[in-house]
Amino acid sequence: MEGLLAFFLESTFVGLWIFGWDRLSPRLHLATIWIAAFGSLVSAFFILTANAWMQHPVGFSYNRATHRAELTDFGAVLTNSTVEVAFLHTVTAAFLTTGALVAGIASWQLWNRRDSADAPAFRTAAKAGMWMAVVAGLAVAVSGHSQGVIMTTQQPMKMAAAEALYQTEQPASFSLFTIGTLDGSKEIWSLRVPGLLSFLATGSFNGRVAGIYDLEAQYRHRFGPGDYRPVIPVTYWSYRLMIGLGLLAAIISAVGLWLIRCGRYPGSRWFHRAALAAIALPLLANSFGWIFTEMGRQPWVVWGQLRTSAGVSPTVGAATVLTSMIVFTVIYGALAVVGLYLMHRSAAAGLPLDEPQDAERPPTFVY
Ligand code: HEM
Repeated sequence: MEGLLAFFLESTFVGLWIFGWDRLSPRLHLATIWIAAFGSLVSAFFILTANAWMQHPVGFSYNRATHRAELTDFGAVLTNSTVEVAFLHTVTAAFLTTGALVAGIASWQLWNRRDSADAPAFRTAAKAGMWMAVVAGLAVAVSGHSQGVIMTTQQPMKMAAAEALYQTEQPASFSLFTIGTLDGSKEIWSLRVPGLLSFLATGSFNGRVAGIYDLEAQYRHRFGPGDYRPVIPVTYWSYRLMIGLGLLAAIISAVGLWLIRCGRYPGSRWFHRAALAAIALPLLANSFGWIFTEMGRQPWVVWGQLRTSAGVSPTVGAATVLTSMIVFTVIYGALAVVGLYLMHRSAAAGLPLDEPQDAERPPTFVY
């Protein structure tokens, strides 16, 4: 459904938007990009539905004869509680990313073109981007909290691994920063917020959060011998970096709105540099969010059903996996370089407000 429905919707209408720039009426042209954006949301939903099934498999039965998980209830897969919260969190994180991008580029342009004709347009764009980043920053925290509570009921080991919590605690504190062994099993010093992990995991500052040792004992009893711990330093730091870097971008935008309100915008060079640097923060936060989600599920490919070690295909060798990994990295690396170059060129060009319009063609609209 992602490939057949959402991808075609997105790509068709992005194509119409690009090639219809001077051919479609302004309203129809604007409609094409709204439909493409809607296609991206539908795309996100189907991708997350597939991922949510691996985090919390529902709507299937295991066929012992074929060794296959077979779909029994498609509605249950689409209404999986895991996808509901993941969709909200991912989409609000995308809005934060977009807000920071618009605010960063507009601030940078405004600083360089304070006295040019397009300065008012960049000022409006900066303000719109900052509002979007602040509102989306709040929404991402609220949706992330709901996700944390559901995740703790479905994959309690992931939450224990997010804090490197070895012993069960009630209430459980959240460490902002820890010095100790890499896997967090021995701690020398840490900066803690009392009760915060309980709140993130259960919604109550006095909630009980199960520790790694207790959960391992439960899992051995339920699934047999094995090591059920994810790689703790990765889950511990990816969780903190997701929250910290993403919310820092929203805070920088909040500072920008405050400067605008005090009449001190575009006043100082340091803010414009910070806004420009803030473009990277939500992008990094998103990557750390995915690293946390996927690494925190280990050692499972499909939680409680298929271990990662059992998911290795006997017909695909390590050399093939390594080769495809290298090829994908090179192709996507090259696309990233081209993409960044084109985005930089387009952002640096400013707005075509002073360009003379061709009398034969409709005027170029700047949205
Ligand atoms: C207070 C702030 C936040 C909280 C409490 C929070 C919580 C969470 C949790 C619990 C997960 C893992 C869900 C699972 O594996 O089932 C997650 C994943 C994720 N987070 Fe956050 N998060 C916060 C902020 C952010 C920010 C600021 C961003 C990016 C700008 C972000 C992006 C992501 C992404 C992309 C994922 C992976 C997709 C998903 O599982 O939804 N998060 N977050």
